[in-house]
Amino acid sequence: MNAKDSDRRGFLKVAALAGSALLVGACGSSGAANGGNATNANTAKTAVPGAKDEKEVTPIEDLMREHGVLRRALFVFSEAAVVLPNNPSANWIDALQKSAKLFRAFGEDYHERQLEEQYIFPLIRQKSVNGPAGSYPDILTQQHNRGREITDYILAATAAGKVAANAGELAKALQGFVRMYIAHASHEDTIVFPAWKDLITAEEYDKLGDKFEDIEKAQFGEDGFEDAVKQILEIETSVGLADISKFTPAAPPPVK
Ligand SMILES: [Fe+2]
Ligand SMILES: [Fe+2]
Repeated sequence: MNAKDSDRRGFLKVAALAGSALLVGACGSSGAANGGNATNANTAKTAVPGAKDEKEVTPIEDLMREHGVLRRALFVFSEAAVVLPNNPSANWIDALQKSAKLFRAFGEDYHERQLEEQYIFPLIRQKSVNGPAGSYPDILTQQHNRGREITDYILAATAAGKVAANAGELAKALQGFVRMYIAHASHEDTIVFPAWKDLITAEEYDKLGDKFEDIEKAQFGEDGFEDAVKQILEIETSVGLADISKFTPAAPPPVK
């Protein structure tokens, strides 16, 4: 059992094992919900009574820390949009290409497609269409799709290692993507995810922590989140964005 296993699979989970049938019922039975390559979460449980240092990553914490990785990629996009019109170094083009690849793999193909579109949106559509998050799944899905179009564009525009002819259009596309996704992820964090959590039992919620981990492992191997954090740090370092202290602005002037 690695450190991440022990995070997620603490002794508190043992009591939830009997709830798997309920979970499938609550979340539908299509797609990743019954994904053939996901491992059975029930096989690796180990009870460690009294292990007070066991900490689990809950489903919403999981989704929100994934947003954290995506926001860091968006920050690279945002800074790139500023430097692009001024003939940026090859490092910036490379950072854009790598950030778009990370956004595609970790954001679009995993976080959006395998978690939100399989587990979060369907339950809200099914059980809470008149609730506070009821109108969100359609809008958010449209934004996922538009984001994928923009990611395709970023990947294509940076593929040759230069963007001379496309710099202005690419900067505009990056700004639009950042603007959309800041609103998108913020509303997921504050409205959609809490509404979804209210629709399931504590037992189902606990069980989904294991399910999300299984999907992450099937997609990326043991350390999907940790690897994504490592990747974005390398990208940030390559273009001087790793030291966040440089982004603390000057104190504001006195009001006149
Ligand atoms: Fe989303
Ligand atoms: Fe999201």
